[in-house]
Amino acid sequence: MTKYALPDWVRCPACRGALEAVADLESASGVKCTKCSVRYGVQNGIPVLLDEDTRREAEVHAAKEDTSGYHAARHAAPANMQYYDYWVDDLLRRIPQRRYGRVIELMAGGAEVSRRAHSLPKPIVAIDINHALLALSKNEIVPDVVPVCASAESLPFEDGAIDLVLIQGGLHHVRKRVAGVVREIARVMAPGAALVASEPRNDHPFNRAFRRAFYHLHPIPDAEEEDGFTKREMGALLRDAGLTMREYDPFAYLGYMLIGNTDLVPLLARMEKNAISKSLIALDRVWTKLPLARGLGWASQIVAEKPGARA
Ligand SMILES: C[S@@+](CC[C@H](N)C(=O)[O-])C[C@H]1O[C@@H](n2cnc3c(N)ncnc32)[C@H](O)[C@@H]1O
Ligand SMILES: [Zn+2]
Repeated sequence: MTKYALPDWVRCPACRGALEAVADLESASGVKCTKCSVRYGVQNGIPVLLDEDTRREAEVHAAKEDTSGYHAARHAAPANMQYYDYWVDDLLRRIPQRRYGRVIELMAGGAEVSRRAHSLPKPIVAIDINHALLALSKNEIVPDVVPVCASAESLPFEDGAIDLVLIQGGLHHVRKRVAGVVREIARVMAPGAALVASEPRNDHPFNRAFRRAFYHLHPIPDAEEEDGFTKREMGALLRDAGLTMREYDPFAYLGYMLIGNTDLVPLLARMEKNAISKSLIALDRVWTKLPLARGLGWASQIVAEKPGARA
């Protein structure tokens, strides 16, 4: 089994003190904070850095989700994976060109971004509140990506510790408390650090109306978690957290609807990579450049920075 350690910059989420060193997470059963002495469990090689109430709440929430279906959409649906390759590649190209030290992925699920981030420094720490979802991908991602079960509302890092934050479709899943989450992200970012994220987009009336009609016809629990952000909303969230928005570009069109979103729209969930999937991706690529139609994107590719000079 692959040995992987807990990076020493992962801290106690309660007091941000150092955690006891763990050289091999796979064989550890717990990890203790050297400052406040709280002991966190390590389950299946994944530290669970949550307080008791949040851990229980997260389990209730996870029980409502189709965790294995979600994992399968990202791992067993070839055309969906091909779309993700295209999507994450576009996101990674937007990372401002500079040298990065500590990189994290938030609301990471199966670490879709960091598992594809071949040129970023390792290990990347992938945070999600759903332990079961992280566990399904763990063996594929360690040791380059270290999964940590924690909440984006209380990140296990010191102030200014992180150089680059990656998120693929996560902020809308914490919508009810999103302002606090964005502030928490800004807290852990170093001056000059970047946030590179992708979120559902709600700027065009067509996208808004379609989403409303879709969830009316196919009600799901917590449908508001699938809603998008407008540029105004996202700009205000970032600004209030002290971050500067650098890019907010539309992305993901017909191809996304047909093969990029198979956990919600399972019509082509089993489609192999083929000429059709390739053409759909090529169509979406061209679509981003069409002046009148590009605003119809289902997602936004977002780049923000924390002002200040890098140390
Ligand atoms: C739409 S999924 C995106 C997963 C992955 N980034 C992807 O693209 O497949 C949203 C994720 O946010 C996670 N999540 C929800 N609330 C969270 C919180 N407070 N802290 C960390 N992760 C959270 C969920 O468990 C879920 O895995
Ligand atoms: Zn502590």
